[in-house]
Amino acid sequence: MNDKQLVALQAAKYIESGMLIGLGTGSTANYFIEELARRQNDEGLKITTVASSTISAQKAQSLHLPIVALEHINQIDLYVDGADEITPDMTLLKGRGSDLVKEKLLAKAASKFIAVADESKLVTHIGQNFLIPIEVIPFAWQLTKKSLEAIGAHGDLRLNAAKDGFWITSHGSYVLDMKFDASLDAKTLNALINDTPGVVEHGIFHDLTDAVFIAANGVVTERWA
Ligand code: A5P
Repeated sequence: MNDKQLVALQAAKYIESGMLIGLGTGSTANYFIEELARRQNDEGLKITTVASSTISAQKAQSLHLPIVALEHINQIDLYVDGADEITPDMTLLKGRGSDLVKEKLLAKAASKFIAVADESKLVTHIGQNFLIPIEVIPFAWQLTKKSLEAIGAHGDLRLNAAKDGFWITSHGSYVLDMKFDASLDAKTLNALINDTPGVVEHGIFHDLTDAVFIAANGVVTERWA
């Protein structure tokens, strides 16, 4: 069993019958979805799910997990998702894909949000290994980019896979992948980007995690806020 699978199985121990559970996106979250389905089948667990992306919704459906649409919920019991970076203060960077809007809504709506990852995701500061993904309203991208540059960021619009156009997220936004001054802490950066007009959402998940579970060489460490 690899570390991503191991950590996902650990988070699945917090599932209880009757829960409404948010499904994350990515390879670690996929292991969690598979374990949910296994426990539903083997133990008769009664759960309902809500997905953070089309790909996770499809996976849940293919495994016969009951699923409700995000617009029909106002709170969830548990959300389990991976991350691209995790800092010592449990801030996450997410959104390497195109699904950070729903991911952040579910993280906020959850009574318990557990971030799961292998140790390769641990960093000392946000933006260490990846650019910060910032979803912007398409018509605002130039003005938003200029505002971000005014606070010291640099970067550009993400291109599509064929590199012949701009990347469009699941919700019709463009993505600015930006680098900020490494001395800015996650709280400041979060506030600065939140204050920028034209921004739909961004990949810094500050003060949202209740726990971070990290697997390293077959051992899972749970850290609760
Ligand atoms: C999705 O937008 C991302 O935030 C993923 O949660 C993140 O990339 C983790 O992916 P893996 O679990 O595949 O490493």
